[in-house]
Parts: sequence; C-alpha cells; structure tokens
Amino acid sequence: MSVEKLSFGALSAGESVEKYVITNKSGAKVSVITYGATIAELFVPDRNGKTEDVLRSFDDLEGFVERCNYQGMTVAPYANRIANAKFTLNGSEYSLIPNEKGVTNLHSAGELSRRVWSAEIVDDHTVRMTIARKDGVGGFPGDMTFSVSFTLTDENELKIEYNAETNADTYINPTNHAYFNLAGQDSDTNADHLIRIEADCFTPVDAFSIPTGELKSVDSTPFDLRAFTRIGDHIDDCEQLALTGGYDHNFCIRGFDGTLRLCATVKEPGSGRMMEVLTDLPGVQFYAGNFLAGALGKGNKPLNKRCSFCLETQFYPDTPNHPNFPSCLVKKGETFRSTTVYRFTTF
Ligand code: BGC
Repeated sequence: MSVEKLSFGALSAGESVEKYVITNKSGAKVSVITYGATIAELFVPDRNGKTEDVLRSFDDLEGFVERCNYQGMTVAPYANRIANAKFTLNGSEYSLIPNEKGVTNLHSAGELSRRVWSAEIVDDHTVRMTIARKDGVGGFPGDMTFSVSFTLTDENELKIEYNAETNADTYINPTNHAYFNLAGQDSDTNADHLIRIEADCFTPVDAFSIPTGELKSVDSTPFDLRAFTRIGDHIDDCEQLALTGGYDHNFCIRGFDGTLRLCATVKEPGSGRMMEVLTDLPGVQFYAGNFLAGALGKGNKPLNKRCSFCLETQFYPDTPNHPNFPSCLVKKGETFRSTTVYRFTTF
C-alpha cells in the first residue's frame, strides 16, 4: 500500500502538475493528475493475474491539454448538456457558454477540467483534490469549493467521492469522464464488451442531444441492456442511436433513492475483466466513444471511434430545465456529497 507523488510537467503558463500513484496490496494501481483532477491510469488484473492499464487517454500532459475529450477528467460544476446554454433559478436567467454547436452548454465548457487542482495525500489509499471557483464563471452562480477524493481499496475498487459547498443557490452535477477498454491498450474496439445497465427507462434526446423530457421505457429497443448485451450488437439500430452516432444516452437507474447502488456491469470476455459501477446518483451516461477521431493516445496509438466507452454517473442531462427530473439544486450553505465506485473483478 502506498501513494507516490511525481511531477507530471508544467502548463505553458508555468503552473506545475503533479501525478499521484496509489498502489494497493495486490498490485493494482491508479494514477491521478492535478490537471483536471484526472484519472490518468488504472492498472487492474485480468483472469490470469496480468495487470494492465484499462484507461484510454494520454501518456503526457500535452495529450491531456491539447488532444483531450475529457479523458479521465473531473467534469464540474455541471457535467453533460444544458439546452440553449440557459436556465432560470429563483426568477433569474443564467447564460452559460454555448460551447457545442454554438447553442448548447456541454460539460460546463470544461471549466474545472482545465484547471490545476490542489492535492493532498489523505492516507495510503486516498488522494484528495480541491479547487475553488468563483461565482459567475462561465455563467454558473455561486462561489463553490469542490473536493474529489480518489481511493483505491485492497478489493480493487476505485472510489470517487465528490463534495461541494456553495454560497448561493446553484446546480451541481459533477462526474468523471474515464474512457475504458477492459481488454487493455491493444484493443481498438469496445464492441465485444458485454454490458448490463440497471435501467428500465432512458432519456431520449433531440438533434442537440438534449433530453426531450420523456422517460422512455427501454422495452423492445436497443436501450434494453437489462441482460448482458454485446456493445456492438445494436449500436446503430434505431433513430435515437442515429441522432447520437451510437450509444450516448442517459439511463435512469432503477430504484434511485440517494444510496449507493449498482448501475452498470461490463465484462470483457477475452481478458476476463469485469467492472461494476455503483453510484448514489439517479443517472448514468453510457457513451460509446462515437466522436473519438484518432487523436494520438498512450503509446502513440490513435484513440479511434468506439475504441473505448464511458459510464458517467450523473443527474440527468439538462436537469435545470426539466422539473420532472430528480433535482440537482444545491441551496446556499448546503453541502453536495456523492459517491461513485468502479469495482474490478474477473470472471
Ligand atoms: C457526451 C458526448 C461527448 C463526450 C465528450 C460525453 O459526456 O455525452 O456526446 O462527445 O462527452 O465531450
């Protein structure tokens, strides 16, 4: 058990970036970097005990700065999309940065993904990163302090705990945007992974990937992933999937009540690796990496379309504009807390 602190270079403006490597007693390890409070590497064993990095991203800081589609980053204050980059709160309209198609706000335009966080080693298993952001930046109200703790347990669980405080009523919806391929670095496709999602409905979207507001049953659709399904089997099979170029949808987690529960399981038959995702949030975005376009990643291999997948735990997209969705309003003086666990085993 150990945590090691290393240099990970510096931004062009001179700010230095650190990397923390947490290793557990069985030799699994996770690296987190202070740029974007980003998970950069995650080594877990296959069914023969061979440990390999299951995250698709970059070897160096330049990759994360220049070529990143949020790989492994903490996304905050609001992950996913907000329609027309606007919402109304307590009678005031707030305008955000329309960073997608000039219309939609996506991932808070990268606000906290693109900054350097402070880090501290909490104990042999845990590193905590902290950042303060100012009221009004990118349009979001509230001076907020975020902290994200990354813990690697001896049971090969990566636990992410979010904590945020605000001095004004606001919307808070952080996530982590890791791209996984459980086969390791040599596979160029997510198609053979088997996925199961604990959701009876999902939120269909319009041409801007904004939820229509409907909570649609997954029955008789390619979104019925209640039994293990090969990701590649139905990924292009309906109009909703054509709109987003493949799976890129929010699933409504069955039984949401604010306590930690299993929301998704992924198995990779070749390596025998299995990942379970647990969260206390109501939704999970299953994104199949449809927009990846060959940026050079680890080992100078291209990050091609669908070479990996994301399971981003979250409130539903565009929640501030949908009163029928579980609310992510955090009132002045309240503390937001949330936990997501990625648990690795073999089968
Ligand atoms: C979105 C995708 C987007 C990706 C990278 C995901 O959360 O749903 O549409 O391409 O983030 O920004």
